[in-house]
Amino acid sequence: MEDLLSWDVPFHHLEAPQGLASRVEAVEKEGVRAWRVLFFQRPSDGAKEGPAVLGARVLPEPPGLPPLTLEGSTLAFAGWRLALLGLPHGLLLPAYRPLLDGASYPALGLTFPLGGARCYGLGERARGLERRGGRYWNLTADRFPRPGQDPLYQAHPLILCLRGARALGLLLDESAPSLFDLGFSHPGEGRVLALAPRLDLYLLEGEVLEVVRGLTLLTGRPLMPPLWALGYHQSRYSYMDEEALKEVFRRFQEEDLPLESLWLDIHYMEGYKVFTVSPHRFPHLRAVAEEMGAKGVRLVPIVDPGVKAEPGYPVYEEAKARGLLVQNERDEVLLGGVWPRPAAWPDFTREEARAFWAEKVRAFVEGFGFAGVWNDMNEPAVLELEGKEPPLKALPPGARHGGRLHLEVRNLYALGMAEATFRGLSALGRRPFILTRSGFPGIQRYAFAWTGDNASCFEDLALSIPMLLSLGLSGLPFAGADVGGFNEDATPELLTRWMWLGALYPFFRNHTALGTRRQEPYAFGEPWTGWMREALRFRYRLLPYLYALARQAHEDGLPLWRPLFAHFPQELEAYREDQFLLGEALMAAPVVRQGEAVREVWIPPGTWQDLFTGEVFAGPGLVQVPAPFSRLPLFQKAGTALPLAEPRYPTATARFPHLTFRLALGPEIRGRVYEDEGDGQEEGVWREVCGAFDGKRLHLFLEEPRERVMAEVLGMPRPLRIRGGVWREGRLLLDLGKGEVWARWA
Ligand code: GLC
Repeated sequence: MEDLLSWDVPFHHLEAPQGLASRVEAVEKEGVRAWRVLFFQRPSDGAKEGPAVLGARVLPEPPGLPPLTLEGSTLAFAGWRLALLGLPHGLLLPAYRPLLDGASYPALGLTFPLGGARCYGLGERARGLERRGGRYWNLTADRFPRPGQDPLYQAHPLILCLRGARALGLLLDESAPSLFDLGFSHPGEGRVLALAPRLDLYLLEGEVLEVVRGLTLLTGRPLMPPLWALGYHQSRYSYMDEEALKEVFRRFQEEDLPLESLWLDIHYMEGYKVFTVSPHRFPHLRAVAEEMGAKGVRLVPIVDPGVKAEPGYPVYEEAKARGLLVQNERDEVLLGGVWPRPAAWPDFTREEARAFWAEKVRAFVEGFGFAGVWNDMNEPAVLELEGKEPPLKALPPGARHGGRLHLEVRNLYALGMAEATFRGLSALGRRPFILTRSGFPGIQRYAFAWTGDNASCFEDLALSIPMLLSLGLSGLPFAGADVGGFNEDATPELLTRWMWLGALYPFFRNHTALGTRRQEPYAFGEPWTGWMREALRFRYRLLPYLYALARQAHEDGLPLWRPLFAHFPQELEAYREDQFLLGEALMAAPVVRQGEAVREVWIPPGTWQDLFTGEVFAGPGLVQVPAPFSRLPLFQKAGTALPLAEPRYPTATARFPHLTFRLALGPEIRGRVYEDEGDGQEEGVWREVCGAFDGKRLHLFLEEPRERVMAEVLGMPRPLRIRGGVWREGRLLLDLGKGEVWARWA
């Protein structure tokens, strides 16, 4: 399928298609309203649903939506005009003609004037956040996320086009490969082409975050993660045996370094056979899991989809006997190679295959006492086919998934696998935790994601910011990059800076490749270990805030990381990509360059307080701040109350025993925490702190007060009078368990 990537699509020969059926309807899902526009040629496609948007309700009339009209083949909506196009059969790349026959137009597309719009979305891309000027295929591929490499592991056919503070959201709910050309082949024009005889579009319009929320909720609410998933994870390809694993565990304990889980990469298996454990390398794995589990540290094994095709291996035998594997064009089991060779691939488009896999996951995870599952190579990646590495490491486009072609459903492979895995883990009664490399819209219902095989260099550290922001804008809020970098060797400076940025990643895991130098936070000794311990402890202090943001993502689809322009769309500087917002309360300006001792920071409009030093800055404007290794430039917005915990690790409950709301004073003050057990299915409660500050008097109260909740103010002189609190070492501390509390300066 690599040939698609260099295909110069003859857009100027596409035509207004004749004889297409269409359906235009207003739909609602999770409280979000959008237009759905479906064009199709085969009657059976008219009744189609999904693959990403499932269960949307058709509204009898469209209240609250800007009108959409379809005249001829032109859609008009909220000031945008999109023209429908068809690709005649003869213009298709020859290799795909036999696969896409049976309809007059094997591919359908759109063109629309871009005007002055800025474009975002399309999931993870190894480049800046803004998509204008580029062309992007949505086709999952196992390729290093180095600058210029495109596409990568995930496929997210959706865009946001911004005109000032308003955005158009367009989701193409189609799994076949699709191309988004956003001013690449024609500077003023957006062009979309899907290699499918139907076009299933969802359109919405509004303020940026409203549209992000809408696109996310249409494809499904993000999962509610267990609290421990937000802790710190340590991995390596591979901790080779039990001794190696225990040694890492011991070093974390000795060095008093926070640790939530250790990860098992492919060498834990016997001959790379999924759902097995090597009896030589890990003879007592269950006992090891229990021993570490007693100290709160969990184990997460990798589970790849490639099943070793070995006679007598029960997973293969059963899948084969039941016909659950992807087949070749001759209707035989398709064999290739990945880590196991030969290997076959479960066909996750089929319910029986998903049920089969779910049960295997359940039994395996339960049997060894694992905490979650790591899904990799799920694009799916194929390292060998008929003796050589296939183009794009992909199965052939004509491979069979029941009655469907690999070309049509490749992009859904990880989604089906994650759904099956989620089901298997749900049977254990805990909140499932899955990490995935590949994905499609909807994957946020089941999994966290990481951005794959980056490199240990400052360029990739910096690149992780737009990559994670884009995943958030595309509906996947829980993501991280390999901290320290995967390929190549980390340096202590790089790792320290990366650990600080990682402390703000929605998903925080240090991972590195086979044969690279060690990069656990203790690997370089002092003073580096001390600084990394600080970063780790800071992550654990921040957990109540991160957990509240995770809950908000689950309820509202809003990403944890947000580009500055999402909140300040009118400010030119808000389009920079080396700073970002974590929720609404925090703005980060991480150090992403080698040797940098001072960081230039753009302060957004309003007042912002340095979280570490208490210094107050008035925006908008540029400032220079010192950038030591012992902290990260992080600013709290005036009027927010940021919930912080004592740095206790590993995590236990999300009813944090000691909470401190750090206040950044403003006329109105608000902040909240979400409290529950941190796992399980019971609903928790939001607890909110509210207050006011008029320059002389601060008043605060906690809704439903509880014990051991404090408020803390930095950078103010000593008050004249305090009720319900003390003044200590330059800080005002107020006890929110005592009803209404206040302090007066005049
Ligand atoms: C892939 C993954 C990487 C993993 C390796 C071995 O390269 O992206 O994270 O360590 O496979 O399983």
